[in-house]
Amino acid sequence: MEALIFFDGEPVGTRAAQSAWMAAENYADCFIRDFVPSALVFLMEGRFDVVRNFLSVALRIRGLQEEIEGHRGLPRVMPASFRVEHHADGNESLHADFGDRAIGRVAPVDSMMWWVLLLQAYVAKSGDKALAKQPTFQRGMQSILGVLLNDRFEVFPTLLVPDASFMIDRRMGVYGHPLEIQALFFGTLNALTDLMLPDEFTQPMLQQAEKRRLQLTEYVRHFYWLDVGRLNDIHRYETEAFGQDAANPLNIYPESIPDWMTEWLPDESGYLLGNLGPGRMDFRFFAFGNLLAIIFGLADAAQSDAIMNLYEIRWPDLVGQMPVKLMYPAMKGLEWQLLTGSDPKNTPWSYHNGGNWPALLWAFAGAAMRTGRDDMARQALSIAESRLLSDDWPEYYDGRNGRLIGRRANMQQTWSAAALLVTHGLMHEPGWLSFWHGPAGS
Ligand code: GLC
Repeated sequence: MEALIFFDGEPVGTRAAQSAWMAAENYADCFIRDFVPSALVFLMEGRFDVVRNFLSVALRIRGLQEEIEGHRGLPRVMPASFRVEHHADGNESLHADFGDRAIGRVAPVDSMMWWVLLLQAYVAKSGDKALAKQPTFQRGMQSILGVLLNDRFEVFPTLLVPDASFMIDRRMGVYGHPLEIQALFFGTLNALTDLMLPDEFTQPMLQQAEKRRLQLTEYVRHFYWLDVGRLNDIHRYETEAFGQDAANPLNIYPESIPDWMTEWLPDESGYLLGNLGPGRMDFRFFAFGNLLAIIFGLADAAQSDAIMNLYEIRWPDLVGQMPVKLMYPAMKGLEWQLLTGSDPKNTPWSYHNGGNWPALLWAFAGAAMRTGRDDMARQALSIAESRLLSDDWPEYYDGRNGRLIGRRANMQQTWSAAALLVTHGLMHEPGWLSFWHGPAGS
């Protein structure tokens, strides 16, 4: 594969994009999240060495994080991306971006969780249990769990993060408790329980992780869930209720239900909300969070079926001419100005603001397979396949139905291609992603 990055003669990752023209300099880096579908392809092909090298290198570069003045101690997170620099004397060195160089200086909270999830995938598929048992890996996992369980100024079981701290890495009004982070948090807590060795030191942490996982599951399944029944409840919510038994504890105002929602949500369907906080319900549909919630088991079986029903009934909006729509619907006008900071890359129906991203195809197929909707996975694959190669693997598509190639899209985007390959693999083995299915939950 041409996208491979080498360090010390060993393949350690893949570049985000390969085309000569790139929207930003760091598209030559290996992004941790972009490497996920590549890693799944390598695991499917039995190229375990690449994933093992990646996991080791990513762990090593955590140590490169520089002190931030005025902060005590470093949380030692994983970087958003890294690159290998080649020096004139023939030496190579690793350089990482912890959000200190990225456009907008965004903190990549998802990276450390994807690293754990990939370690779990690697162990399950290669059978190499010894790697996760190595002391450096055990210490790495302990410190990640420590960061995740750290107390914040919070009363919710969900994880509080800044704007742009995950796949949507530009300002999009996704600060607080975005669904994608909650799904990854759930998957990561499961994975850590699976991979961390219990001893005197880790036992209390693992117990806490289990309690948090149960609370998170209950909270998301209840408060993030939206279907017509819930919509009716919210429409008639009583507000300003003080005390412990309030039906509307977050004080959501019925007036905040957006216009498009009432007619758009079909009876047989439902989905998990984009975000939730005090007085705040983000009704937008975020694809990756919903799909990961199905794959990891954060959504229960009935909810998972309802989400796939939504996809079936609202196919033109959510899949259209390129699977899948990242977020629906787009923000326009004043809302766009206020929530994106007038970002010209995120204009309505483009990029993160309602663009279609082929990189999510694998997650769509994975969720469809998990709910027995293989037909939908097959249909999405055939739409993507008919365009991606001839369009030269764009990063994203524009328009209400994803008809146009993204205005500022990179070409030869690695995860667009890798997602297609993973989906092909899933067609042959629909249960292949089952190592990520968490326990049924409460
Ligand atoms: C964009 C995406 C981000 C991805 C990066 C590299 O910034 O929003 O999720 O990791 O491109 O492809």
